[in-house]
Amino acid sequence: MRIAVAGATGAVGSHVVTELEKAGHEVVPLARSTGADLRTGAGLVERLEGVDALIDCISINSMKAEESRDFFTATTTNMIEAERKVGVAHHVVLSIVGIDKVPTGYYQGKVAQERVVREAGQPYTILRATQFHEFAEQMLVRGKVGPFLMAPRMLSAPVAAVEVAQALVELGAGEPHHATIELTGPEQLEMVDMIRAVAKDRGVTSPIIPVPLGLGAAAKAVRNGDLVSKRAWRVGQQTFREWRRERR
Ligand SMILES: NC(=O)c1ccc[n+]([C@@H]2O[C@H](COP(=O)([O-])OP(=O)(O)OC[C@H]3O[C@@H](n4cnc5c(N)ncnc54)[C@H](OP(=O)(O)O)[C@@H]3O)[C@@H](O)[C@H]2O)c1
Repeated sequence: MRIAVAGATGAVGSHVVTELEKAGHEVVPLARSTGADLRTGAGLVERLEGVDALIDCISINSMKAEESRDFFTATTTNMIEAERKVGVAHHVVLSIVGIDKVPTGYYQGKVAQERVVREAGQPYTILRATQFHEFAEQMLVRGKVGPFLMAPRMLSAPVAAVEVAQALVELGAGEPHHATIELTGPEQLEMVDMIRAVAKDRGVTSPIIPVPLGLGAAAKAVRNGDLVSKRAWRVGQQTFREWRRERR
């Protein structure tokens, strides 16, 4: 099959490209660094000619609700309009478990993204995943404030990005679910402990400051496990410890 990957250069998107190629599919990569800005949608229709399915793994590095909403609404609308024009038969999007229970900051954008997909009338599958093992590593950069590292107080069920990618490839090559399904990791861990462990592995010595994610009830929900899947379609195999050993 010919499958487009939006966010083909990202943490999960790059695994999706590798897994698609391993499975013998033809990949159409979409990212600004490959000349496709999905916010404008310029040239998208031409790129999607002959594409059977699109797997969307794009992201914006922002905690601001408005910025996140604008980004995910504009990019998703552009993709779906272009898909319709050339007859792409399946839109698969990667989302996050629990976002509707904690609709703050970045997550508001993800909620808006899912809404556009559900209401567009285009055949779709929404895969909600829990945090990647790699998220702890991303926080070593994204969580930096001066000499400190901010670590969200969050109960998580982390999953390997490569296993998320394998699930996305399977979904992209299959029939649309017209539904939201969930993928979770094999165990529950505190994100603060995960960030501490990865910092130690990488020799990062910045003081780590646990901080709430969101305010009031939202922060409590995140701390107590609202981002952990309660009805998983699939459970990933690789534990965080195994992933760290592999990375070392
Ligand atoms: N990280 C997690 O733990 C986690 C867990 C569950 C779900 N998710 C979801 O998984 C998705 C991917 O996350 P990630 O961490 O893999 O993201 P990431 O590493 O930040 O990668 C983002 C990708 O989006 C592309 N991109 C950004 N702006 C673009 C634009 N205007 N036009 C085209 N491409 C653009 C980037 O490429 P260029 O910079 O070259 O444009 C890059 O390929 C997100 O939707 C996220 O919500 C993440």
